[in-house]
Amino acid sequence: MALQGRSLISLEELAKEDILDLLAQASKFESEPNRKILDGKVVATLFFEPSTRTRLSFETAANRLGARVIGFSDAATTSSSKGESLKDTIMMVSNYADVIVMRHYLEGAARYASEVSPVPIINAGDGANQHPSQTLLDLYSMLKTQGRLDDLDITLVGDLKYGRTVHSMLTAMRHFSSRFRFIAPRELEMPQEYKEYCTEHGIVFTESHEFNDEIISTSDIIYMTRVQKERFTDLMVYEKVKNAFILRNQMLSNARENLKILHPLPRVNEIDQDVDSNPAAYYFKQAKNGLYVREAIICDSLNIKV
Ligand code: CP
Repeated sequence: MALQGRSLISLEELAKEDILDLLAQASKFESEPNRKILDGKVVATLFFEPSTRTRLSFETAANRLGARVIGFSDAATTSSSKGESLKDTIMMVSNYADVIVMRHYLEGAARYASEVSPVPIINAGDGANQHPSQTLLDLYSMLKTQGRLDDLDITLVGDLKYGRTVHSMLTAMRHFSSRFRFIAPRELEMPQEYKEYCTEHGIVFTESHEFNDEIISTSDIIYMTRVQKERFTDLMVYEKVKNAFILRNQMLSNARENLKILHPLPRVNEIDQDVDSNPAAYYFKQAKNGLYVREAIICDSLNIKV
């Protein structure tokens, strides 16, 4: 087992075998998603930032495995709006729940919570930092559609500065020998720290400010991302870059047969709806894979063998 009852904060803490083990567990859950193996357990979902997929798939995962779910999707309805600290909130919820799934707008909040919590914390996204459960479902989707995680041409497109999903992905992909292309407007380039991380860990990458036919026709995976409006301090900059790259169906005519288009979702404008019926469009199935991966994560964090 990968987590063995521990928190999941960053994929930096997982070895290659741990990641592959979680993906193998997810595959078992895909074959049999409904099992009452968490009977008597309580899963808390604390979402200090909005979410559709992550919260609902974690809650569905818990429900399908027989656990009960408590929590909130709007921190304004909780005592944190009265000034209660994150530490006190975590201490209180850990009195009631066996595991806490938390999304927070502050980078490092999940790690801090794990340091004060007596029960495991699952990071469901902390600011622009990490989104490990999303990455595990992204890897699961790549493995399922390409049959491997090595020797892939993976093109990351859009907001590479604030997009926590692409940062998490690089952390996990240090274990595999695929090639990356970073396609972003200048204002939203992959941060220097992550480029240095790639260099240190032997992750091959190139960078471009153009998203063109040549790039599309030589990709196995195109990973589109939303421009993260909520993280901009200057909305004039957001207005300038918000529609920098839009993938349209006509741009896919020379794509590889095995190409899959991924997106963590939600999308705004970056994938035109005319792409949805293209066989390469995989983003809705990708989100469905999140259920199986999150079933595996919850069980592992509770040290319950599948
Ligand atoms: N991919 C993702 O994190 O989606 P939500 O913000 O809807 O949870």
